[in-house]
Amino acid sequence: HDKGFIFDLDGVIVDTAKYHYLAWKHLADELGIPFTEEQNEQFKGVSRKRCLEILLEWGNMKVPQEQFDTWLAEKNEDYLVYIDKMTEDEVLTDVPKVLNFLREHKVPMGLGSASKNARPILKKVGLIPYFNTIVDGTQVSKAKPDPEVFLIAARELKLPPENCIVFEDAIAGIEAANIAGMTSVGIGDKDVLSDARYVFKDFTEIDLDFIKKLAEL
Ligand code: G6P
Ligand code: MG
Repeated sequence: HDKGFIFDLDGVIVDTAKYHYLAWKHLADELGIPFTEEQNEQFKGVSRKRCLEILLEWGNMKVPQEQFDTWLAEKNEDYLVYIDKMTEDEVLTDVPKVLNFLREHKVPMGLGSASKNARPILKKVGLIPYFNTIVDGTQVSKAKPDPEVFLIAARELKLPPENCIVFEDAIAGIEAANIAGMTSVGIGDKDVLSDARYVFKDFTEIDLDFIKKLAEL
């Protein structure tokens, strides 16, 4: 196959953004820093460490490294309580339709996520076997919009970047895909993801003829 597909995880395959929000909200409340769902948008695609840095900037707080690390761990423990309860039902609507179609046609698939929890989440929802490679936050040093995560995925799929199609819900993720020279498909709001080559509200709007065309099947 000439073409490969790379998927972001949070907000594309599963709706874990709501759990990230609840865990950050819990910490923010504890620290007395206001935190809304709108602010949470800015955390999408952004590493855990960077999210806490931003939260503390909003709260005008500077803290010693040790305190920082404690809060970082606390947020993640909170998040993992939600993840632990996840089931296959939480795979977003019509995502399996696309994944199954690609698998049937033996199109290479990769995951490209900033999350260090990507593997346990995929395991929870039963999607590990679909991916030829899983590149996550434990393997990358440069965060989106740096294209590192997608370039590693392309290399592992043994495909040149220009033959890869990326599905992303974050502005930073679309930017990363574009910088890598890949075809970017935005999942979300057209106005927010205006730099994407294509944008769909969610997977229910994507028909298999479009996937077929992208995959050149
Ligand atoms: C994804 C999410 C971000 C999250 C990041 C790190 O990119 O969109 O909101 O902060 O992963 O996730 P982690 O599970 O490692 O805390
Ligand atoms: Mg995402």
